[in-house]
Amino acid sequence: MPYQGTFYFYGKTIPADLMKIFAETERLLLRELLPTDDAGMYELDADPDVHVYLGQHPVQSLEESRKIIEFVREQYNQNGIGRWAVVEKETQTFVGWSGLKFILHTVNQHTNYYDLGYRFIKRYWGKGYATETAKATLAYGFNQLQLKEIYAMTHIANQASQQVLTKVGMQFIQAFVYEGEPMHWYKKINPALL
Ligand SMILES: CC(C)(COP(=O)(O)OP(=O)(O)OC[C@H]1O[C@@H](n2cnc3c(N)ncnc32)[C@H](O)[C@@H]1OP(=O)(O)O)[C@@H](O)C(=O)NCCC(=O)NCCS
Repeated sequence: MPYQGTFYFYGKTIPADLMKIFAETERLLLRELLPTDDAGMYELDADPDVHVYLGQHPVQSLEESRKIIEFVREQYNQNGIGRWAVVEKETQTFVGWSGLKFILHTVNQHTNYYDLGYRFIKRYWGKGYATETAKATLAYGFNQLQLKEIYAMTHIANQASQQVLTKVGMQFIQAFVYEGEPMHWYKKINPALL
């Protein structure tokens, strides 16, 4: 049963069917990231604990978070995909982001590929949200977008992320170095092609 609630958007409450909702799980909605997610994005990215394995550059201002949202929304237009906002259905709260990003630069000798990623506000860790959204993202990528393969990478010390990737069936391929940091590289082939 699709989500039939409402969202608060630019000062108005609007029906969910006017939003771009890309996927729905038992507890969560994955929808387009909106300018009104700015406070949530700031809470997420200002937290140094969230950035421990992400190069340790938490954002310093709400304005920075607004620019990140704009950047992701540009990717929706330019690449047809970008990370999605994750919203708890029960509370209608923004809890973080998850989804695919089309990577145009070269990482571990791969260019123009789809990367699975996720990031949640700390108080929502440990609830299975990364796993739940990663599964929905892979299903969307393989079934809707008909992608042949999806990749992911994580810092070698980021055990929570590695556990998520393993649980959703991503295969560990190799260790490599990215921007001076030791990383793990993962891949999943579209099961329909196997
Ligand atoms: C990584 C992150 C997305 C995980 O989100 P989450 O919703 O808590 O993940 P889940 O609850 O779905 O699963 C986490 C798994 O890792 C395990 N885990 C958590 N911390 C762990 C640790 N320090 N060592 C080993 N396993 C750990 C959990 O037990 C769980 O596995 P289980 O279900 O088998 O018990 C979240 O911690 C986060 O946002 N971190 C900051 C940003 C980040 O690192 N993003 C990923 C970049 S690659």
